[in-house]
Amino acid sequence: MHKKQSIHGAWANRWIFILAATGSAVGLGNIWKFPYIAGENGGGAFVLVYLFCILLVGVPIMMAEVLVGRRGRQSPINSMRETAYEAGHHGRWASVGWMGALAGFFIFSFYSVVAGWVLYYIAGMGSGQFIDIGSEQAGQIFNNLLADAETLLIWHTLFVVMVMVVIAGGVNKGLERATRVLMPLLFVLLFVLLVYSANSGYFAEGWDFLFHFEPEALSWNAVLVALGHAFFTLSLGMGSIMAYGSYMGKRDSIGGTVLTIAALDTLVALIAGLAIFPIVFANQLDPGAGPGLMFITLPVAFSQMAGGQVFGFLFFLMVGFAAWTSAISLMEPGAAWLVETLGLSRVRASILLGFIVWALGLLALGSFNVTADWLVFGMTAFDFLDFLTANIMLPLGGFFVALFVGWYLTREMTEDELALRWPLAYEAWRFTIRYIAPSAVAVIFALNLYQKLAA
Ligand code: TRP
Repeated sequence: MHKKQSIHGAWANRWIFILAATGSAVGLGNIWKFPYIAGENGGGAFVLVYLFCILLVGVPIMMAEVLVGRRGRQSPINSMRETAYEAGHHGRWASVGWMGALAGFFIFSFYSVVAGWVLYYIAGMGSGQFIDIGSEQAGQIFNNLLADAETLLIWHTLFVVMVMVVIAGGVNKGLERATRVLMPLLFVLLFVLLVYSANSGYFAEGWDFLFHFEPEALSWNAVLVALGHAFFTLSLGMGSIMAYGSYMGKRDSIGGTVLTIAALDTLVALIAGLAIFPIVFANQLDPGAGPGLMFITLPVAFSQMAGGQVFGFLFFLMVGFAAWTSAISLMEPGAAWLVETLGLSRVRASILLGFIVWALGLLALGSFNVTADWLVFGMTAFDFLDFLTANIMLPLGGFFVALFVGWYLTREMTEDELALRWPLAYEAWRFTIRYIAPSAVAVIFALNLYQKLAA
């Protein structure tokens, strides 16, 4: 039962796993989404709840996902089945893996569109399109881009190809190589930008906005958004981390590794907030501007600052790298399954997956132009896919993983796989995964449903 390695390969060492998983976690969620949802949901109040969700729900569930992946040594779908069998249970637990793969497609479809905007902005910053513009012009550039289906299509297609090339390379020649090159660059760029923002003169305002707790600003909806985002930003609830865990070394400690990944992810989100909000306040822009926050306010700010074009270029380059390494992890569970169950080559698997998500992406892409009036529950396809995955499918996936690992796997299995140094740490984890994490998800879900129905 204890396979030493997955047929897909293994990470070279513990740090590569940490960097790869951090590459999955750190993405548009941290740099684009986190600042704008924090801005929309009252700043500090939201951030505090979000941090609780990361620690009490995210970290234990991430440990559970890595554990299942490493125990099963296969794609999430097959690892769920294998570990269920090992514990003497029914193979239908594989359906959690299936829901995850589906969520991965859905997430990718809108993720790739936003990543396409990022690529467009990298090119725009590089070519000087954003020199000397005001907020009106920046808004215009962004809205013109959204209205222009053809341009969006080009960048969306390019992004899908970029991701699929890496997936086709496999674990060592694709994922690991991308990780080794992109992650160090990402950290360097982030640091440069933080220094730049710290000198923008409004650092204290940005800090205050993120860390000043105002209970009145908090709503139940904000709590649901915070929970959903905790899953989204840590890449939980769909199998990304489970797949990456299946390539992890047997002797590496899951607890310490997961804590490192979660800490790095949180750090990047907070730094992104600390880089963005001071610039927003320095230019009297609106922190609650929504999804356009990064794409409208930042170019304005960059256009008015010394060296802004270079920093703007570097900023969007960094976002592009982050999006790239995350999108790869959205496709890995499906690719691994296609290879091990249908016997496809990596190349064929990535062509097939690429085609599916490219086509699904057209729906998200059209939400801003040709199919803007196709509404589901009053939402465009883009908004609906985001809502459905982040606020429903991921928490549900995480809920079932917690139930599975906490209540269905045997104590021997989890104790052996986690091999935590202190008995107390294991008990704390087990209590959290059995009681706290599932009930937190269930309560937040139920309260929201109740509120939506009552309203
Ligand atoms: N965590 C990534 C981000 O913050 C996105 C992502 C990658 C993801 N894999 C995932 C989200 C799996 C949910 C599930 O941008």
